[in-house]
Amino acid sequence: KEFTLIMIKPDGVRSGDSGKILARIEQEGFKIRAMKRVRLSLEQAQQFYSVHAARPFYGELCSFMASGPVVAAILERDNAVQHWRDVIGATDPAEAAPNTIRKLYAKSKGENAVHGSDSVENAKIEAAFFFSGLELAGQ
Ligand code: GTP
Ligand code: MG
Repeated sequence: KEFTLIMIKPDGVRSGDSGKILARIEQEGFKIRAMKRVRLSLEQAQQFYSVHAARPFYGELCSFMASGPVVAAILERDNAVQHWRDVIGATDPAEAAPNTIRKLYAKSKGENAVHGSDSVENAKIEAAFFFSGLELAGQ
């Protein structure tokens, strides 16, 4: 089985869509292996998205990600990374396919409800950002 790291972003938590998104996660056959609700500091948001540091939207992205709590989780499933990205849809909800999470719940390209790792390698790095070895042990 494969793992991915996902977040329900501050807009999704604020608008009360966390429960529906978590239900969708289970409907899609993912197992939730670890989960927490946490508010990132600006510095932590900058670190998480450091790959985008040179992009024009980086400042806006980081302040948004620190604007309220997120729900972060490690999900397990066959083909977890790609399947989650299929379920969430395109970055911009205007371009997302029908019934994807971003089509259903996202407001804009910036405030787009959920995150998903883009590779198995990055899923490991991102999981370690949120969860300690102790929290992952024995699973
Ligand atoms: P993530 O799962 O969050 O990584 O989204 P993604 O992989 O679909 O998109 P990408 O990694 O390219 O961008 C990361 C995040 O930056 C996006 O999810 C958006 O929240 C934000 N972002 C991307 N492009 C724009 C933009 O043009 N404007 C703004 N404000 N935010 C953007
Ligand atoms: Mg990305």
